[in-house]
Amino acid sequence: MAYTLNVNGKALSADVDGDTPLLWVLRDTLNLVGTKYGCGVAACGACTVHIDGQPMRSCQIPVESVGKAKVSTIEGMAANPVGKKVQAAWTELDVAQCGYCQAGQIMSATALLTKTPKPTDEQIDEAMNGNICRCATYVRIRAAIKRASGQKEA
Ligand code: FES
Ligand code: FES
Repeated sequence: MAYTLNVNGKALSADVDGDTPLLWVLRDTLNLVGTKYGCGVAACGACTVHIDGQPMRSCQIPVESVGKAKVSTIEGMAANPVGKKVQAAWTELDVAQCGYCQAGQIMSATALLTKTPKPTDEQIDEAMNGNICRCATYVRIRAAIKRASGQKEA
């Protein structure tokens, strides 16, 4: 069946089964490969996208349930004022190691700072809790979130 999705402000069509996870529609049909597959069971956060601004695990969202919701992916973050700040902080602090988890980290961080512009350490921990980094870049991730929010990093 053909689905028309609103992705990064564009109407994009995908002819797929309704139970296809959004992650695979983004990657395999729409060629938006910045969103990564890690676990497939909502346990790692690598596949995080925004659905109407909320960070969601795209491996768990059947495409038929998306409807007219606004989907944002890492490819759309340069056009998002908060996402742009987050990405700049990430680059300045050289956060990424292998990089695999980082799109998901940036999506969660951007959703956090959009809702809570000056998060406390506890709010950062809570928001980023489900995003796993096998390279353990957690200290730099927190510093970059602080920098993007204009707060002291340590
Ligand atoms: S791939 Fe979706 S949470 Fe791990
Ligand atoms: S940077 Fe390698 S998994 Fe996070």
